[in-house]
Amino acid sequence: MRHEHIEVNSGLMIALVLAVISIGGLVEIVPLFYINETIEKVDGVRPYTPLELRGRDIYVREGCYLCHSQMVRPFRDEWLRYGHYSLAAESKYDHPFQWGSKRTGPDLARVGNKYSDQWQVQHLLKPTSVVPESIMPNYPWLLHNDLSYADVGDRMRALRRTGVPYSLTQAEYEANVKTFGKDVADKLDISQAQDNLLKQARGRNYDGLPNRITEMDALVAYLQVLGTMVDFSKYDEGYFAEFR
Ligand code: HEC
Repeated sequence: MRHEHIEVNSGLMIALVLAVISIGGLVEIVPLFYINETIEKVDGVRPYTPLELRGRDIYVREGCYLCHSQMVRPFRDEWLRYGHYSLAAESKYDHPFQWGSKRTGPDLARVGNKYSDQWQVQHLLKPTSVVPESIMPNYPWLLHNDLSYADVGDRMRALRRTGVPYSLTQAEYEANVKTFGKDVADKLDISQAQDNLLKQARGRNYDGLPNRITEMDALVAYLQVLGTMVDFSKYDEGYFAEFR
């Protein structure tokens, strides 16, 4: 068939355009129906604890994603700077995910355990006090505001509807014990959410204020878990391992 023949026949042209677009559409859409099989299972990946989850909400509220991505791409320069490239499984419980593409500041996908809690608090209060050339804004209210956590169970319930395995029923709890072990399963139990949140915040006292639970506790708990769920040292070998 000659090209000119297609161009002067709008009916035929429309039919062919639709055929091409639907092939493109199918290639993009069909895999989404098989997403559970598409995302490789990886040991260690679990949903956030109630405290980390509140921290994540604060991260979104403050718009940290406007300057920070959370996805290490599989390129050598990124790998050397940030560590192992991000795996799909590592953000499978993130709704919405925080991959982003804007990097005014560094990628945060693997920032967990990179600094002490104290450094994180100081940095969030006044970034220039630890990194003099920083252009990141100050977030002094994080230490000022008490954390509101009365609705943390509802937040978990909402995520459960999107498929995050927070447990409401005994059967769901037992399934979590099987998948994640008892310690983690307890933290994913919605009925114990507030107790768990308090236990974690008091246990580690992220913000350095022993008598208060602040938004800083939650945000630092979240930052400190980013990228730490998978133990990549199990897979470390060769040249790249020297840089991690
Ligand atoms: C206006 C852009 C901007 C915003 C908004 C911003 N940051 Fe940053 N951030 C930066 C820049 C630039 C750096 C690098 C300099 C520094 O360390 O302060 C940075 C560094 C960091 C680091 C250290 C990363 C590393 O590997 O050294 C952390 C952690 C961090 N930011 C967390 C946050 C959090 C949490 C928020 C939201 C409460 C936030 N940032 C909001 C620009 C921003």
